[in-house]
Amino acid sequence: MPRLHASVEEVGPFTLFIGRPGGWPYYARPQLGGKTIIALADVALVLAKMRELQIPTSIEWVHETTPTLLDAVGGEGSLQPQEVPLMVLELPISVEAPANIEIRLLRPSDRDLLAGSQAVQQVGFAVRGTAIGVEGAAERDSALKAPTAQEQEMLANGAIRIAVAMNDTGQVLATGRHIPIGDVTEVVGVATLPSMRRRGLGAAITAALVDDARANEIKPVFLTAGSEEIARVYSRIGFSRVATGYVAERRGFEPIGHIGTKTP
Ligand SMILES: CC(C)(COP(=O)(O)OP(=O)(O)OC[C@H]1O[C@@H](n2cnc3c(N)ncnc32)[C@H](O)[C@@H]1OP(=O)(O)O)[C@@H](O)C(=O)NCCC(=O)NCCS
Repeated sequence: MPRLHASVEEVGPFTLFIGRPGGWPYYARPQLGGKTIIALADVALVLAKMRELQIPTSIEWVHETTPTLLDAVGGEGSLQPQEVPLMVLELPISVEAPANIEIRLLRPSDRDLLAGSQAVQQVGFAVRGTAIGVEGAAERDSALKAPTAQEQEMLANGAIRIAVAMNDTGQVLATGRHIPIGDVTEVVGVATLPSMRRRGLGAAITAALVDDARANEIKPVFLTAGSEEIARVYSRIGFSRVATGYVAERRGFEPIGHIGTKTP
């Protein structure tokens, strides 16, 4: 997916995706089918390259395929690795939308809902975890801004498929998206306004994205959950943990998200 929106450089045993100006920031990952033993010097090399290019220092990988990288990143010391359960849809379990909530997929003309979806993601990811919080409509409305041209184009050409949960006045309360590439898709950016959590919106949004993928004969559907507690939400609708992802970003830096929570 990053290849569509980034230039690519091979740096030692890593593939580095360099996002375009104004687009999303990306990361380095171990080369597919490449060296499985990665040393501290390899990590230092790719981080030096990222600093030279003045892009965020971030590495993502699957622990089971590159188990030595965790120690190498730990030894280098400037990045904080976060474990993220990697899950694949096995047997979809349907869920009903909560009462008085409409869940639907966005159409290219839904510019206001696209803006609402982005604002909910911004507020949702600023308040981590699954607990109910005070942040709601006011915070969402202050976060509203016009969607970028890139987002609108991707919505129009089907590169992202976005679901929103709305109340009866059409206000976005929760959202999520999937990003199909060929016949595989990743669910990302699932977020519920903190004041609206623990009512089934997150599960219903994800189930709607799964339904959309299946309706378009796209499978597998995978995602990375931000934590074990978030993984429970996905387990309830049929996702199973298959591996362990890692996202390592600069210490003390609170990212908008990782592979499962980034907001393409
Ligand atoms: C993760 C997140 C999207 C979940 O959204 P949500 O709308 O609260 O999700 P749900 O309501 O479907 O499920 C959350 C919990 O509420 C419970 N719940 C669902 N409906 C309920 C109801 N009617 N009454 C009581 N509890 C309910 C679920 O069982 C689940 O409980 P658990 O913690 O014991 O597993 C939300 O917490 C969030 O935005 N977090 C920050 C962003 C983030 O990390 N996103 C995920 C990236 S992978």
